[in-house]
Amino acid sequence: MYPRLVILSRGARLYSTRRLADEAQKAGWAVRILDPLSLTVVVDEKGGRIFHRGWPIECEAVIPRIGYSITRRGVAIVRQFEQMGVIILNPSLSIQQSRDKLLASQLMADAGVPIPATAHVASEEDLDRALARVGGVPCVVKAHEGTQGSGVFLARTDQHVRQLVNQMLERGMRPLVQTYIEESHGQDIRVLVVGGKVTAAMRRRASGSEFRSNFHLGGSVEQVNLNEEYISVALSAANILGMDIAGVDLLESRDGPLVLEVNSSPGLEGIEGASGVNVAAAVAQHLNDRLDAIERQQKGEAEMANSTSDKQSMISD
Ligand SMILES: Nc1ncnc2c1ncn2[C@@H]1O[C@H](COP(=O)(O)OP(=O)(O)O)[C@@H](O)[C@H]1O
Ligand SMILES: [Mg+2]
Repeated sequence: MYPRLVILSRGARLYSTRRLADEAQKAGWAVRILDPLSLTVVVDEKGGRIFHRGWPIECEAVIPRIGYSITRRGVAIVRQFEQMGVIILNPSLSIQQSRDKLLASQLMADAGVPIPATAHVASEEDLDRALARVGGVPCVVKAHEGTQGSGVFLARTDQHVRQLVNQMLERGMRPLVQTYIEESHGQDIRVLVVGGKVTAAMRRRASGSEFRSNFHLGGSVEQVNLNEEYISVALSAANILGMDIAGVDLLESRDGPLVLEVNSSPGLEGIEGASGVNVAAAVAQHLNDRLDAIERQQKGEAEMANSTSDKQSMISD
Protein backbone atom coordinates (compact mmCIF):
# COMPACT_ATOMS: atom_id res chain seq x y z
CA MET A 1 0.00 0.00 0.00
CA TYR A 2 1.19 3.51 -0.80
CA PRO A 3 2.00 5.78 2.14
CA ARG A 4 -0.58 8.56 2.35
CA LEU A 5 0.26 12.27 2.24
CA VAL A 6 -2.15 15.09 3.00
CA ILE A 7 -1.25 18.54 1.70
CA LEU A 8 -3.14 21.18 3.64
CA SER A 9 -3.75 23.97 1.17
CA ARG A 10 -6.53 26.36 0.35
CA GLY A 11 -5.69 26.23 -3.35
CA ALA A 12 -5.28 22.85 -5.05
CA ARG A 13 -4.29 24.64 -8.26
CA LEU A 14 -1.61 26.88 -6.78
CA TYR A 15 1.82 26.28 -8.32
CA SER A 16 3.53 25.16 -5.09
CA THR A 17 0.68 22.86 -4.06
CA ARG A 18 0.56 21.21 -7.47
CA ARG A 19 4.32 20.75 -7.64
CA LEU A 20 4.50 19.19 -4.17
CA ALA A 21 1.60 16.86 -5.00
CA ASP A 22 3.09 15.81 -8.36
CA GLU A 23 6.56 15.07 -7.00
CA ALA A 24 5.28 13.23 -3.93
CA GLN A 25 3.13 11.09 -6.20
CA LYS A 26 6.15 10.29 -8.37
CA ALA A 27 8.04 9.33 -5.19
CA GLY A 28 5.37 6.76 -4.32
CA TRP A 29 2.87 8.65 -2.14
CA ALA A 30 -0.92 8.64 -2.41
CA VAL A 31 -1.65 12.36 -2.21
CA ARG A 32 -4.77 14.24 -1.10
CA ILE A 33 -5.04 18.00 -1.08
CA LEU A 34 -7.39 19.25 1.61
CA ASP A 35 -8.51 22.75 2.49
CA PRO A 36 -7.59 23.21 6.18
CA LEU A 37 -10.81 25.17 6.66
CA SER A 38 -12.84 22.12 5.62
CA LEU A 39 -11.43 19.97 8.42
CA THR A 40 -12.93 19.49 11.86
CA VAL A 41 -10.99 18.55 14.96
CA VAL A 42 -12.90 16.37 17.43
CA VAL A 43 -11.52 15.67 20.89
CA ASP A 44 -13.19 13.27 23.28
CA GLU A 45 -12.28 10.50 25.72
CA LYS A 46 -10.72 8.53 22.82
CA GLY A 47 -8.33 11.40 22.10
CA GLY A 48 -8.37 13.70 19.11
CA ARG A 49 -9.20 12.99 15.50
CA ILE A 50 -9.61 15.01 12.32
CA PHE A 51 -12.61 14.72 10.05
CA HIS A 52 -13.31 15.81 6.50
CA ARG A 53 -17.02 15.85 5.64
CA GLY A 54 -17.67 13.33 8.38
CA TRP A 55 -14.85 10.94 7.41
CA PRO A 56 -11.81 10.52 9.66
CA ILE A 57 -8.52 11.46 8.00
CA GLU A 58 -5.74 8.93 8.26
CA CYS A 59 -2.33 9.44 6.74
CA GLU A 60 1.38 8.92 7.29
CA ALA A 61 2.49 12.49 6.49
CA VAL A 62 1.19 16.05 6.27
CA ILE A 63 2.60 19.09 4.49
CA PRO A 64 0.83 22.15 5.87
CA ARG A 65 0.70 25.18 3.59
CA ILE A 66 -1.03 27.48 6.05
CA GLY A 67 -1.68 31.02 4.82
CA TYR A 68 -1.18 33.98 7.14
CA SER A 69 -4.85 34.81 7.45
CA ILE A 70 -5.69 31.34 8.83
CA THR A 71 -2.64 30.79 11.06
CA ARG A 72 -4.62 30.09 14.26
CA ARG A 73 -7.02 27.56 12.77
CA GLY A 74 -4.34 25.99 10.64
CA VAL A 75 -1.97 25.57 13.57
CA ALA A 76 -4.71 23.86 15.64
CA ILE A 77 -5.19 21.29 12.88
CA VAL A 78 -1.46 20.71 12.45
CA ARG A 79 -1.12 20.21 16.22
CA GLN A 80 -3.79 17.52 16.10
CA PHE A 81 -1.97 15.68 13.33
CA GLU A 82 1.19 15.89 15.46
CA GLN A 83 -0.57 14.25 18.38
CA MET A 84 -1.57 11.45 16.04
CA GLY A 85 2.13 10.76 15.42
CA VAL A 86 2.13 11.72 11.75
CA ILE A 87 5.22 13.08 9.91
CA ILE A 88 4.74 16.86 9.62
CA LEU A 89 6.73 19.27 7.45
CA ASN A 90 6.69 21.74 9.33
CA PRO A 91 5.57 21.32 12.95
CA SER A 92 2.97 23.67 14.44
CA LEU A 93 5.45 25.32 16.79
CA SER A 94 7.73 26.26 13.88
CA ILE A 95 4.82 27.76 11.97
CA GLN A 96 3.69 29.75 14.98
CA GLN A 97 7.12 31.02 15.98
CA SER A 98 8.11 32.07 12.48
CA ARG A 99 4.97 34.18 12.10
CA ASP A 100 5.86 36.44 14.98
CA LYS A 101 8.77 38.53 13.70
CA LEU A 102 9.91 39.55 17.19
CA LEU A 103 9.76 36.04 18.64
CA ALA A 104 11.61 34.58 15.66
CA SER A 105 14.29 37.27 15.99
CA GLN A 106 14.63 36.58 19.72
CA LEU A 107 15.14 32.87 19.11
CA MET A 108 17.73 33.51 16.43
CA ALA A 109 19.57 36.19 18.43
CA ASP A 110 19.75 33.83 21.44
CA ALA A 111 21.34 31.19 19.24
CA GLY A 112 23.89 33.60 17.80
CA VAL A 113 22.33 33.82 14.33
CA PRO A 114 23.04 37.29 12.89
CA ILE A 115 19.95 39.51 12.46
CA PRO A 116 19.40 43.26 11.95
CA ALA A 117 19.04 45.10 15.30
CA THR A 118 15.31 45.15 16.06
CA ALA A 119 13.36 46.89 18.83
CA HIS A 120 9.77 46.46 19.87
CA VAL A 121 7.93 49.73 20.50
CA ALA A 122 5.44 49.21 23.32
CA SER A 123 4.14 52.80 23.43
CA GLU A 124 4.79 56.22 21.94
CA GLU A 125 6.88 57.19 24.99
CA ASP A 126 9.12 54.23 24.22
CA LEU A 127 9.85 55.32 20.67
CA ASP A 128 12.93 57.53 21.14
CA ARG A 129 14.73 54.88 23.16
CA ALA A 130 13.79 52.13 20.69
CA LEU A 131 14.93 54.24 17.75
CA ALA A 132 18.26 55.05 19.42
CA ARG A 133 18.89 51.34 19.93
CA VAL A 134 18.66 50.61 16.21
CA GLY A 135 20.83 53.56 15.23
CA GLY A 136 18.14 56.19 14.42
CA VAL A 137 16.78 57.09 10.99
CA PRO A 138 16.65 55.96 8.30
CA CYS A 139 15.08 52.82 9.74
CA VAL A 140 12.56 50.18 8.82
CA VAL A 141 9.20 50.12 10.61
CA LYS A 142 7.28 46.87 10.46
CA ALA A 143 4.40 45.12 12.14
CA HIS A 144 5.05 42.01 14.25
CA GLU A 145 2.99 39.96 11.87
CA GLY A 146 2.57 40.35 8.17
CA THR A 147 3.71 38.98 4.87
CA GLN A 148 4.45 39.90 1.27
CA GLY A 149 5.79 43.27 2.34
CA SER A 150 2.38 44.66 3.33
CA GLY A 151 3.33 45.91 6.81
CA VAL A 152 6.91 47.03 6.05
CA PHE A 153 7.98 50.69 5.61
CA LEU A 154 11.19 52.64 5.17
CA ALA A 155 11.18 55.84 7.26
CA ARG A 156 13.77 58.55 6.67
CA THR A 157 12.73 61.09 9.35
CA ASP A 158 11.86 60.86 13.06
CA GLN A 159 8.50 62.37 12.24
CA HIS A 160 7.73 59.66 9.67
CA VAL A 161 8.73 56.92 12.15
CA ARG A 162 6.45 58.47 14.79
CA GLN A 163 3.56 58.65 12.36
CA LEU A 164 3.93 55.01 11.24
CA VAL A 165 4.37 53.73 14.80
CA ASN A 166 1.33 55.67 16.04
CA GLN A 167 -0.82 54.38 13.20
CA MET A 168 0.16 50.81 14.06
CA LEU A 169 -0.40 51.29 17.79
CA GLU A 170 -3.85 52.80 17.11
CA ARG A 171 -4.79 49.76 15.03
CA GLY A 172 -3.69 47.41 17.79
CA MET A 173 -0.70 46.24 15.76
CA ARG A 174 2.64 45.78 17.48
CA PRO A 175 5.29 47.87 15.74
CA LEU A 176 8.98 47.05 15.45
CA VAL A 177 11.76 49.41 14.42
CA GLN A 178 14.76 47.86 12.71
CA THR A 179 18.14 48.98 11.45
CA TYR A 180 17.87 49.74 7.76
CA ILE A 181 20.51 47.76 5.86
CA GLU A 182 21.11 50.35 3.20
CA GLU A 183 23.63 48.39 1.13
CA SER A 184 20.94 45.73 0.65
CA HIS A 185 18.31 48.24 -0.54
CA GLY A 186 15.77 46.56 -2.80
CA GLN A 187 17.29 43.11 -2.72
CA ASP A 188 17.60 40.03 -0.60
CA ILE A 189 18.49 36.36 -0.91
CA ARG A 190 15.98 33.57 -0.47
CA VAL A 191 17.49 30.22 0.51
CA LEU A 192 15.43 27.04 0.44
CA VAL A 193 16.50 24.63 3.14
CA VAL A 194 15.03 21.12 2.96
CA GLY A 195 15.85 18.47 5.55
CA GLY A 196 18.90 20.35 6.88
CA LYS A 197 20.42 20.96 3.44
CA VAL A 198 20.51 24.03 1.23
CA THR A 199 18.53 22.95 -1.82
CA ALA A 200 18.25 26.15 -3.85
CA ALA A 201 18.81 29.88 -3.64
CA MET A 202 17.92 33.03 -5.55
CA ARG A 203 18.42 36.75 -5.32
CA ARG A 204 15.28 38.88 -5.44
CA ARG A 205 15.30 42.45 -6.67
CA ALA A 206 12.62 45.04 -6.18
CA SER A 207 11.34 46.97 -9.15
CA GLY A 208 11.99 50.72 -9.50
CA SER A 209 12.56 52.68 -6.30
CA GLU A 210 10.78 50.06 -4.13
CA PHE A 211 12.96 48.88 -1.23
CA ARG A 212 11.03 45.66 -0.55
CA SER A 213 12.09 42.80 -2.78
CA ASN A 214 9.01 40.58 -2.31
CA PHE A 215 8.17 38.57 -5.42
CA HIS A 216 4.48 39.42 -4.94
CA LEU A 217 5.27 43.14 -5.19
CA GLY A 218 6.55 42.65 -8.72
CA GLY A 219 10.23 42.06 -7.92
CA SER A 220 12.42 39.95 -10.20
CA VAL A 221 14.49 36.90 -9.38
CA GLU A 222 17.90 35.69 -10.49
CA GLN A 223 20.32 32.87 -9.81
CA VAL A 224 22.87 33.26 -7.03
CA ASN A 225 25.78 31.20 -5.69
CA LEU A 226 26.14 31.14 -1.92
CA ASN A 227 29.42 31.13 -0.04
CA GLU A 228 30.02 29.04 3.10
CA GLU A 229 28.99 31.83 5.47
CA TYR A 230 25.59 32.31 3.81
CA ILE A 231 25.00 28.56 3.75
CA SER A 232 25.86 28.15 7.40
CA VAL A 233 23.66 31.07 8.54
CA ALA A 234 20.70 29.80 6.49
CA LEU A 235 21.05 26.28 7.93
CA SER A 236 21.26 27.62 11.50
CA ALA A 237 18.14 29.76 11.02
CA ALA A 238 16.09 26.80 9.70
CA ASN A 239 17.44 24.60 12.47
CA ILE A 240 16.65 27.07 15.32
CA LEU A 241 13.06 27.29 14.12
CA GLY A 242 12.83 23.50 13.77
CA MET A 243 11.78 23.53 10.13
CA ASP A 244 12.05 20.65 7.65
CA ILE A 245 11.26 23.06 4.83
CA ALA A 246 12.29 26.67 5.26
CA GLY A 247 12.50 29.76 3.08
CA VAL A 248 15.24 31.77 4.77
CA ASP A 249 15.47 35.44 3.75
CA LEU A 250 18.92 37.00 4.08
CA LEU A 251 20.08 40.57 3.65
CA GLU A 252 23.57 41.05 2.24
CA SER A 253 25.06 43.48 4.72
CA ARG A 254 28.57 44.91 4.71
CA ASP A 255 29.39 42.55 7.58
CA GLY A 256 27.91 39.43 5.99
CA PRO A 257 24.49 37.75 5.96
CA LEU A 258 21.68 38.87 8.27
CA VAL A 259 18.52 36.80 8.64
CA LEU A 260 15.40 38.83 8.01
CA GLU A 261 12.82 36.10 8.35
CA VAL A 262 12.17 32.41 7.92
CA ASN A 263 9.07 31.31 6.03
CA SER A 264 7.41 28.01 6.87
CA SER A 265 5.43 27.68 3.59
CA PRO A 266 7.87 29.09 1.04
CA GLY A 267 6.58 29.52 -2.50
CA LEU A 268 8.28 27.31 -5.10
CA GLU A 269 7.52 29.07 -8.36
CA GLY A 270 10.11 31.85 -8.21
CA ILE A 271 12.86 29.69 -6.80
CA GLU A 272 12.41 26.68 -9.09
CA GLY A 273 12.41 29.07 -12.04
CA ALA A 274 15.44 31.08 -10.95
CA SER A 275 17.60 28.19 -9.73
CA GLY A 276 16.52 25.42 -12.09
CA VAL A 277 16.38 23.11 -9.06
CA ASN A 278 13.49 20.70 -8.56
CA VAL A 279 12.73 21.77 -4.98
CA ALA A 280 9.46 19.82 -4.83
CA ALA A 281 11.36 16.60 -5.61
CA ALA A 282 13.78 17.36 -2.76
CA VAL A 283 10.80 17.72 -0.41
CA ALA A 284 9.41 14.37 -1.63
CA GLN A 285 12.82 12.77 -1.10
CA HIS A 286 12.90 14.17 2.44
CA LEU A 287 9.43 12.69 3.09
CA ASN A 288 10.76 9.29 2.00
CA ASP A 289 13.81 9.66 4.26
CA ARG A 290 11.59 10.48 7.24
CA LEU A 291 9.34 7.51 6.51
CA ASP A 292 12.34 5.16 6.14
CA ALA A 293 13.72 6.37 9.46
CA ILE A 294 10.43 5.62 11.21
CA GLU A 295 10.20 2.18 9.62
CA ARG A 296 13.77 1.37 10.62
CA GLN A 297 13.05 2.49 14.17
CA GLN A 298 9.88 0.38 14.37
CA LYS A 299 11.75 -2.65 13.02
CA GLY A 300 14.52 -2.10 15.56
CA GLU A 301 12.02 -1.87 18.41
CA ALA A 302 10.23 -5.04 17.26
CA GLU A 303 13.55 -6.93 17.14
CA MET A 304 14.48 -5.67 20.60
CA ALA A 305 11.13 -6.81 21.98
CA ASN A 306 11.59 -10.26 20.38
CA SER A 307 15.09 -10.73 21.72
CA THR A 308 14.02 -9.63 25.22
CA SER A 309 11.14 -12.10 25.26
CA ASP A 310 13.54 -14.85 24.01
CA LYS A 311 15.88 -14.09 26.90
CA GLN A 312 13.05 -14.10 29.38
CA SER A 313 11.81 -17.44 28.16
CA MET A 314 15.37 -18.82 28.41
CA ILE A 315 15.58 -17.69 32.02
CA SER A 316 12.22 -19.18 32.95
CA ASP A 317 13.03 -22.48 31.17
N1 LIG B 1 15.98 46.09 7.82
C1 LIG B 1 15.86 46.07 6.49
N2 LIG B 1 16.81 46.63 5.69
C2 LIG B 1 16.71 46.61 4.35
N3 LIG B 1 15.66 46.06 3.69
C3 LIG B 1 14.66 45.49 4.41
C4 LIG B 1 14.71 45.46 5.85
N4 LIG B 1 13.59 44.86 6.31
C5 LIG B 1 12.89 44.52 5.21
N5 LIG B 1 13.51 44.89 4.07
C6 LIG B 1 13.00 44.63 2.70
O1 LIG B 1 11.59 44.52 2.75
C7 LIG B 1 11.15 43.21 2.37
C8 LIG B 1 9.98 42.74 3.24
O2 LIG B 1 10.37 42.65 4.62
P1 LIG B 1 10.03 41.39 5.53
O3 LIG B 1 10.49 41.70 6.92
O4 LIG B 1 10.55 40.18 4.90
O5 LIG B 1 8.44 41.40 5.53
P2 LIG B 1 7.38 40.39 4.89
O6 LIG B 1 7.20 39.35 5.94
O7 LIG B 1 6.16 41.20 4.69
O8 LIG B 1 7.99 39.80 3.65
C9 LIG B 1 12.38 42.34 2.50
O9 LIG B 1 12.32 41.23 1.61
C10 LIG B 1 13.52 43.30 2.16
O10 LIG B 1 13.69 43.41 0.75
MG1 LIG C 1 9.72 38.63 3.65
